[in-house]
Amino acid sequence: MEKAGQVALVTGASSGIGRETAIMLAAKGFKVMAAARRMDRLVELAGQVEGITPIDVDFSDPDDLEKFCQHVAGFSEPVSVLINNAGYSLRGALEDVSIEAAKRMFQVNVFALMRVTQACLPGMRKMREGTIVNVSSMAGKFAFPGSGPYAATKHAVEAITDALRIEIRPFGIRVVAIRPGFIATEFNDVGNSMTGDLLARTDPDYKSVYETSGKAVGSMFAGVTVPGPELIANIIVEAVLSDSPKAVYHAGLFSEEFLENRASLDDEGFDEYLSEKTGLKDLKL
Ligand SMILES: NC(=O)c1ccc[n+]([C@@H]2O[C@H](COP(=O)([O-])OP(=O)(O)OC[C@H]3O[C@@H](n4cnc5c(N)ncnc54)[C@H](OP(=O)(O)O)[C@@H]3O)[C@@H](O)[C@H]2O)c1
Repeated sequence: MEKAGQVALVTGASSGIGRETAIMLAAKGFKVMAAARRMDRLVELAGQVEGITPIDVDFSDPDDLEKFCQHVAGFSEPVSVLINNAGYSLRGALEDVSIEAAKRMFQVNVFALMRVTQACLPGMRKMREGTIVNVSSMAGKFAFPGSGPYAATKHAVEAITDALRIEIRPFGIRVVAIRPGFIATEFNDVGNSMTGDLLARTDPDYKSVYETSGKAVGSMFAGVTVPGPELIANIIVEAVLSDSPKAVYHAGLFSEEFLENRASLDDEGFDEYLSEKTGLKDLKL
């Protein structure tokens, strides 16, 4: 099936993985609809790369999401390729994450992904063709301490992706999950700014937990290079162009190590492994 000329919708296209994916899909001849909040970035991108159309949307606002989905459902040419990529993380022990902040993160990482997919599916079903790529995370298969609610959003993405893949295969629509490890994008800075100053606002009880795990995880990065977003964008485009994409791809720093251990160890064994990795195994307070 000739794919050049088809419509591809990329969410979270203003930076990082989404931006690189939009550029690479446009280079392959797709008409790329690039969605995010920062229109200045999207307009600049569209000015630099032929075939990219910016769309302004804030997925944390349910009304704006709905307006966006009505717009998408009304495209004159239906979306053939959907890259559900927009997302961010909140950090903190469970006691330090407000329910309101967690709900907003679920709205962006999970409910927007569901709703945008719903907006694209009728067109794909009609064509009996399409590819949906959901950007999950290695945290879709296990949870780092201090990152439970974010991992919960990505576990939700994994579950939705797995069910959807089998539900819509009969219509010729392919569904792929991508599980990045650590990738050098704005993700870390956005996570820090969305989280705020944890050490300043947490109960003193948690200070050692944060400091110990921060030091242990920090030491994992000593002397290693974190790959850039092109690594993941290349895999996404490879999956889109493939005649038979895999159900799941993973890549990025530590994704192999963590995911292999999660797959091969039992629950107690993985708990011990992750407690050691994060420096919390022998901490007693
Ligand atoms: N980088 C990593 O280490 C890593 C690892 C595993 C998984 N991931 C996943 O990869 C995906 C892309 O992240 P990235 O690393 O490329 O980070 P990034 O550079 O921060 O990009 C995130 C994108 O999501 C968009 N976004 C965030 N909140 C939004 C909202 N309320 N409405 C609409 N768009 C919103 C941002 O656009 P605006 O701010 O302009 O709205 C931006 O384009 C995310 O789903 C993330 O969970 C990343």
